[in-house]
Amino acid sequence: MTVPLRPFGRTGVKVSALALGTMMFGERGNPDHDDSVRIIHRALDAGINLVDTADVYSQGESEEIVGKALAGRRDEVFLATKFHGQIGTDPNHFGNSRRWIIRAVEDSLRRLRTDHIDLYQVHRPEEDTDFDETLGALSDLVHQGKVRYIGTSTFEPSAIVEGQWIAARRNRERVVSEQPPYSILARGVEREVLPIAQKYGLAVIPWSPLAGGWLTGRFRAGGAQPETSRGGRQPGRFEIGAPENAAKLAAVEALALLAEQSGLSLIHLALGFVLEHPAVTAPIIGPRTFEQLEAQLDAAQVRLSRDVLDEIDKIVPPGVTLSSRDQGYHPPALEPARRRRSAA
Ligand SMILES: NC(=O)c1ccc[n+]([C@@H]2O[C@H](COP(=O)([O-])OP(=O)(O)OC[C@H]3O[C@@H](n4cnc5c(N)ncnc54)[C@H](OP(=O)(O)O)[C@@H]3O)[C@@H](O)[C@H]2O)c1
Repeated sequence: MTVPLRPFGRTGVKVSALALGTMMFGERGNPDHDDSVRIIHRALDAGINLVDTADVYSQGESEEIVGKALAGRRDEVFLATKFHGQIGTDPNHFGNSRRWIIRAVEDSLRRLRTDHIDLYQVHRPEEDTDFDETLGALSDLVHQGKVRYIGTSTFEPSAIVEGQWIAARRNRERVVSEQPPYSILARGVEREVLPIAQKYGLAVIPWSPLAGGWLTGRFRAGGAQPETSRGGRQPGRFEIGAPENAAKLAAVEALALLAEQSGLSLIHLALGFVLEHPAVTAPIIGPRTFEQLEAQLDAAQVRLSRDVLDEIDKIVPPGVTLSSRDQGYHPPALEPARRRRSAA
C-alpha cells in the first residue's frame, strides 16, 4: 500500500503523509551504511518522498548516507536538511549567522551529493542573531538556486510569527514550514504553534511522533528497562524508573490498553493521532532498523475514530506535554542580567 500524498503548505508541492527521518543513520544509531541505504530505499519504494536530515546528525554522516542512497533517485525526493547545531569545535561553525549559513550549505550540498536542497531548515532559533540576518542569507540561497524553500524547527510561537512579518516587511523569502515536536505525550504545540501554522499556511512536519521510542510498546510499567539508542545521550529521559517519567509511563499503560481495544498497535495509534491533526502535513518517522520502518509504513492508512480520539484526550489532555524535556524548547534562563537594566 503506497503512502498517500498531502500538500506541503501552500507551496504547490505534494509530499507523502509520512516523512522519513534519518537522525538514526550513522554513528549515533545505525552505523551500517549499506543497511541504512536499504532502509531509505524501502521507504522510497513504499511511496515516501520527503526525507529529513541535518548537518549535525552524526556530524555529517547522516547526510553522507542520504547522499549515497539518493544517487540516481534524487529527483524522486523532496530533500530537507538543517543547519544551526555545532559542527566540530570552531565557535563560529554554529548558529544562524550569514557567515556560517553560507559555509554550512556548501558542506551539506557536498555530503548530500546534490546541487540543491528542497527545504533548508533553521534547526533552532538563536537569540544572539537577528532573524533578518538569517532570512537574508537564506533568501540569497533561494535566489542562487541552491535552496528551494526555507523552514524552521522548534520555533516558539512568537518567533514563527516574527519570521512571517520580517519576510513581508523586508522583502525576504518566506518561511514555508515548521518542524515541531509533537506526539500524544507532547501536545504543547496544539496551543499556539499548530493554529499559527494553519493561519499562515505553513506545512508542519512533526518530529518524535513516537516520543523518541516511548510509544513503541517497549516501555511498560513493571517491565525491564528497554535497550535504547538514546539513553546515553539524554540520561534519565528514557529511564522507566525515574520519577520525572512516572506520568509518561502511566499514560503509556493507558494508551497501550486503548490500542489493544481498538485493534491497533501502539505505534499505529501514536502515528494515527499525529496524522489526525488538521495542521499536520507529515509526521517524521525515525526508524533505526528495517523492522522499525516496516512497523510504521502502514500507519498513513490509519484513521482514528472520534471515540478513540476522545479517549486519548482523557489520557493526555489537549495542549499538555507530560515532561518538559519533550517539548524541545529551551526558554532563555531568567538570570538576573535578563531581568535588570543594570547590575547595580
Ligand atoms: N528538528 C528537531 O529538532 C528534531 C529532533 C528530533 C528528531 N528530528 C527528526 O525527526 C525524526 C524522527 O524523530 P525520532 O527519531 O525522535 O522519532 P520517534 O519515532 O519518536 O523515535 C524513534 C525511535 O523509536 C524507536 N522505534 C522506532 N520504531 C520502533 C519499532 N517499530 N519498535 C521499537 N522501537 C522503535 C527507536 O528507538 P531505538 O533507536 O532506541 O531502537 C527509534 O530510534 C528524526 O529522524 C529526525 O529526522 C528532528
